[in-house]
Amino acid sequence: MPLQFNDPAITVAIVGCGGFIGSHLLDAVLCRTKWRVFGVDVDFYRIQHRLHDERCEFLNADLADPGVVERIAKFPVVVNLAAICTPSRYMAEAPAVIRSNYDHPAALAEACAKSGAWLIHFSTSEVYGRTLEDSGELDEESTGFVFGPVASSRWSYATAKLLTERFIAGLEGLNWTIVRPFNFVGPYMDFMPGVDGEGIPRVLASFSTALVRGEPLKLVNGGKARRTFTSVFDAIDFMFALFVARENALSQIFNVGNPDNEVSIADLAARMRRIYAHLKGVPEESLPVPEVVDGEAYYGRGYDDSMRRLPSVEKSSRLLGFRAQVPLDVVLEESLNWFIGHYSDAAD
Ligand code: NAD
Ligand code: UGA
Repeated sequence: MPLQFNDPAITVAIVGCGGFIGSHLLDAVLCRTKWRVFGVDVDFYRIQHRLHDERCEFLNADLADPGVVERIAKFPVVVNLAAICTPSRYMAEAPAVIRSNYDHPAALAEACAKSGAWLIHFSTSEVYGRTLEDSGELDEESTGFVFGPVASSRWSYATAKLLTERFIAGLEGLNWTIVRPFNFVGPYMDFMPGVDGEGIPRVLASFSTALVRGEPLKLVNGGKARRTFTSVFDAIDFMFALFVARENALSQIFNVGNPDNEVSIADLAARMRRIYAHLKGVPEESLPVPEVVDGEAYYGRGYDDSMRRLPSVEKSSRLLGFRAQVPLDVVLEESLNWFIGHYSDAAD
């Protein structure tokens, strides 16, 4: 049975509801449905405006706590977004990254298998591993995986996510769907280092920070790697397509990406400089020129990369009728505009 959006008896548990994707999903569920939300996180700064909503109950708690896992699994729909998921942390905190991306979600999956909840688990496009410059479309059903050596701690995250996928898919009695996001971007993504987070955020926030601070954008190993950036608003539409087509989504893994938005990181830098100059009304030539940096010097020893991540989106189109729509320059302008406004007092 599809979930009825006007049914006030439905409560969806959103684990990681205070994060980038979680905060957008929370807003969308409250705006588009009559459902209630049980939200779990350890950080609520992005969702301050929702904390007193009468349709929400929030729990400030760690998914590592077995009692919290039991409470979450009592709800009929559980969306698990909680994870350590920034590349600079894969380098420095591999054991914590593995606990976060395998131990905690595996415990939640076991609890959902017992309770009968539908677990929608967020994995990652990183499970496709160390893809090469000439890798073609990555397909949920047939593409295999190659990772770097254990000494390349970058792969701690991807291998933990992949193990969780295998655990979920093999768990008897579990109603599950796995989502593999391909570089979602939009307002509220990550943080500005030194202001509301530490370390190196993902590329959109790294480049936005550099532009706002008047510093050169850093092109890791020349910016040759390619990504397909996907608007977080498309990602939320995907979630609603999933809710509607529940029966088609059970026991399925879905890539969620926008193959029309493929760019090299060097090209992304050029686009973001152009858009930033336009938004600020300054000549592009007045902005610092991007600087090439060595990957291990920038992120630390053990950095490695995926060179191309182009999703096949045939499956989500066929089973859910979903295809991402928002063009790259639109989402970049929207995100940069938000970043400039949000961090206007913190540029230095
Ligand atoms: P995010 O870091 O913004 O959000 C994650 C949220 O989970 C944070 O608010 C964090 O406080 C919370 N959290 C982490 N560990 C927790 C714990 N132990 N207990 C309770 N809360 C905890 O990340 P995001 O970009 O919103 O990503 C959400 C999920 O999607 C993650 O699983 C991530 O691996 C996956 N993903 C995201 C992207 C993307 O493009 N944003 C790409 C691939 C995969
Ligand atoms: C990211 C993260 O691993 C995960 O959050 C997520 O699971 C995954 O994307 C995904 O979307 O599936 P990655 O794309 O490598 O992985 O991370 P970014 O930090 O966004 O970097 C993208 C590319 O830009 C990499 O080649 C990186 O080396 C490069 N980069 C990053 C720069 O050239 N300069 C920077 O300042 C930051």
